[in-house]
Amino acid sequence: MKIPTPLVLILLFCLQSAPAISGAAVRCNPQDKKVLLQIKKDLGNPYHLSSWNTQIQKDCCDWYSLDCDLKTNRVIALTIFQSNLSGQIPPSVGDLSYLQQIVFHKLPNLVGTIPQTITKLTHLTRLDVSWTNISGPIPDFISQLNNLNTLDLSFNYLTGNIPSSLSELTNLNYLNLHGNKLTGSIPDSFGTFKGNPDLYLILSHNQLTGNVPKSLADLKLTKLDFSRNNLQGDISFFFEPDKEIQIADFSRNMFQFDLTKVVFPKALTSLDINHNNIYGSLPQGLTFLNLQFLNVSYNRLCGQIPVGGQLQSFETTVYFHNRCLCGAPLPACK
Ligand SMILES: *[C@@H]1O[C@H](CO)[C@@H](O)[C@H](O)[C@H]1NC(C)=O
Ligand SMILES: *[C@@H]1O[C@H](CO)[C@@H](O)[C@H](O)[C@H]1NC(C)=O
Ligand SMILES: *[C@@H]1O[C@H](CO)[C@@H](O)[C@H](O)[C@H]1NC(C)=O
Repeated sequence: MKIPTPLVLILLFCLQSAPAISGAAVRCNPQDKKVLLQIKKDLGNPYHLSSWNTQIQKDCCDWYSLDCDLKTNRVIALTIFQSNLSGQIPPSVGDLSYLQQIVFHKLPNLVGTIPQTITKLTHLTRLDVSWTNISGPIPDFISQLNNLNTLDLSFNYLTGNIPSSLSELTNLNYLNLHGNKLTGSIPDSFGTFKGNPDLYLILSHNQLTGNVPKSLADLKLTKLDFSRNNLQGDISFFFEPDKEIQIADFSRNMFQFDLTKVVFPKALTSLDINHNNIYGSLPQGLTFLNLQFLNVSYNRLCGQIPVGGQLQSFETTVYFHNRCLCGAPLPACK
């Protein structure tokens, strides 16, 4: 027998709202509850999720590590952190259809890779799998999560190249890949992140090589951290007077260019370029900036430190180990 669609909808509506009508305060959606119990099972019933138990806590919206939407009562956030639970990210996570946020943080025994089932989560805005033991490459399919604005995969054991498809995430405004074992170069495509004027790009502490693609000059980056890689070449294109960069860390790479004629953007408040092969002298323009942090140590710079601005208020370690920088706060020039 074929039941007419409106009738099915009415039936479903009654089923869903029945507990509310009968006065029982259980908000939990039965489908979500089923998936959550599957996730718990897939993770080996960890102690961390012991409240995920209808005997202990009837309403799954009150279970530990979860948030439900106040109107729809669907599970919208799964936030599991600081636990010794072990195993892989359960593929069943992809069945929490209304999820907007996944956080798996500080889980040293979480291993394996990111499951493809997360591509079913079309509402996902934040994916944070950080300080875990997941490994393997960053999957290409992450680029299908169109609504993602935060992608944090820092402090894991990820290997391989950064997928160029990540630039298809047009809503992304925070990308953190710090502290993995990523290799290869920064994708050319990264110059085409669209619709995100305030992208914060963190690629530090990996094994990235090659030149930084010039296309990145087209982005409106305000904060970036490329430190502790094996990147090389000239990055002075990040510093043009009309750029919006505020915080830049290029330290501990192999960048090599003449600093003398670089004109820094007015917004720059923090610049770290220590441990590179940067040569020339410190430009006078540094004295016009409102710098809160500077470190140009361990390069091949020469000449007098310009007088003015904050430049004399920094300690000597900001300037030491260069070829022949001199003047306050270093010893006077000869
Ligand atoms: C995990 O932590 C819980 C609570 O701190 C503890 O009872 C349990 O023994 C731990 N399990 C392992 C395998 O360390
Ligand atoms: C995490 O992975 C690293 C590298 O593969 C390994 O040395 C370490 O023992 C792993 N830690 C745990 C808790 O599995
Ligand atoms: C500047 O960087 C060098 C090299 O990493 C470090 O030794 C020094 O302490 C830093 N100075 C400041 C003020 O951060």
